[in-house]
Amino acid sequence: MTVTIYIPGDSGAVAVGADAVAEAISTEASRRGHDVHVVRNGSRGLYWLEPLVEISVEGRRIGYGPVAVADVPGLFDAVFLSGGDHAKGLGPVEEIDFLKRQTRLTFARCGIIDPRSLEDYEAHGGLAGLRAAAAMTPAEIVATVTESGLRGRGGAGFPAGIKWKTTLDAPGETKVVVCNADEGDSGTFADRMIMEGDPFVLIEGMAIAALATNASQGFIYIRSEYPHAIASMRRAIARARQAGVLGRPQREGGKAFDIEVRVGAGAYVCGEETSLLNSLEGKRGVVRAKPPLPAHHGFLGRPTVVNNVITLASVPIVLAKGAAFYRDFGMGRSRGTIPIQLAGNVRRGGLFETAFGITLGELVDDVAGGTFTGRPVRAVQVGGPLGAYFPRALFDTPFDYEAFAAKDGLIGHAGIVVFDDTVDMMAQARFAFEFCAIESCGKCTPCRIGAVRGAETIDKIRQGIEPEKQKALVTDLCQTMKFGSLCALGGFTPYPVMSALRHFPGDFGSPNRLQAAE
Ligand SMILES: Cc1cc2nc3c(=O)[nH]c(=O)nc-3n(C[C@H](O)[C@H](O)[C@H](O)COP(=O)(O)O)c2cc1C
Ligand code: SF4
Repeated sequence: MTVTIYIPGDSGAVAVGADAVAEAISTEASRRGHDVHVVRNGSRGLYWLEPLVEISVEGRRIGYGPVAVADVPGLFDAVFLSGGDHAKGLGPVEEIDFLKRQTRLTFARCGIIDPRSLEDYEAHGGLAGLRAAAAMTPAEIVATVTESGLRGRGGAGFPAGIKWKTTLDAPGETKVVVCNADEGDSGTFADRMIMEGDPFVLIEGMAIAALATNASQGFIYIRSEYPHAIASMRRAIARARQAGVLGRPQREGGKAFDIEVRVGAGAYVCGEETSLLNSLEGKRGVVRAKPPLPAHHGFLGRPTVVNNVITLASVPIVLAKGAAFYRDFGMGRSRGTIPIQLAGNVRRGGLFETAFGITLGELVDDVAGGTFTGRPVRAVQVGGPLGAYFPRALFDTPFDYEAFAAKDGLIGHAGIVVFDDTVDMMAQARFAFEFCAIESCGKCTPCRIGAVRGAETIDKIRQGIEPEKQKALVTDLCQTMKFGSLCALGGFTPYPVMSALRHFPGDFGSPNRLQAAE
């Protein structure tokens, strides 16, 4: 009997040796005369256990991890092909607490199916949403997505249905769906994980967006640092084309929709939608003033939907199960689930998809298990490099767009980066200015000049040059950047800076908290 072994081909798993483990397992199996079928699945998102090897035993998946090449002979000796006991044994993977506590809607198949197989995708519920959408009018699809409450997962949390309606109503012969897979935020990897682990769900989501807006042209803009995701999407697009999911009208009299992968050259600002469109058009990645909105005047002036990977990958389940099913998860105006990415100094780093409403403290202390170093958690940055730093005093904040905004923070792309008590928050504030200065597109003055002056001013605090005056200057500068910048790069840099200053004032001085303790 052939035994199926799952060894992630996800780049996070490959980075810690999954390719070598796959090779060692295949070699050892043939040496011992075992008949095995190795599937390079996506990651389950339990990164501290990667490479996580799973064996299919009587319909259950038994896990072993983290597996090293040196463990392989021992695993065979322990009869792991039948789920035998071993020091690296984890038991049934679905029973691992980190996974069991999740509500996986968008990531339902990630880590389970073979990402190269459209048949496997369909066998696990794939394409049901597209079929449902093909039987609906564009306005009905838009209404379903609007009623589901799905908001953009790229950062701004804008309702997806409203954006789609604007594009649907905009005049224009050719309409475009652009998937933003630039994923520049620090500590985030949900887009990459799903593109590598379940690429067809993104294709299906884009095909539904195309049906909803009468679009015929699609692009996925992926950062060049994601070669595995690029290969995965290109492979899946070719397969979808072959199967008629792309390149053929999905409804009678409808337009054929196709997708092309475009690779970004690695500028953070190219994740901003108008910069991204310039980059797609072969121009420099500079932000465009809005209006006009991309929905009216986007790629080459055509009405264009720009959505994040997770937004689009969440659409198939909305169409397959209905708006009410999705809307029933969550709190307030934050409906459905959110794939939260736990990173930085944590014991259990990974992807945790759950309904909105879980508190920051539960995520950091309980789900992630505190810090990797074992030291106390001091600060948590939520929402990427432009997100605020939260102290422990704010750990009761529920994961919800409005609740975070009320505490001068943002959810962004739902990346959480944890720091222990050795963090120097003045250095983090300086880093925010420095990051903005390096990544600024240069179009507007508050960002281009302000970020450089901000870093210089913090240097003066560190040098003990009139620190109180410099702190007042930083505050004033942040106000100017917040209200005077053209886009959120300059406009949101004040969030990390001001939150550091507000919540960790003892770090801003000369000597500061850490220097004084030395
Ligand atoms: C500086 C900057 C960087 C951004 N980077 C990304 C990114 O990497 N991925 C993304 O989806 N959105 C990013 N955004 C947000 C996009 O401009 C846009 O709001 C998003 O792609 C819309 O999709 P959504 O509504 O599905 O979230 C960025 C915005 C700014 C200002
Ligand atoms: S805020 Fe910065 S990145 Fe945004 S348009 Fe202005 S200069 Fe460019």
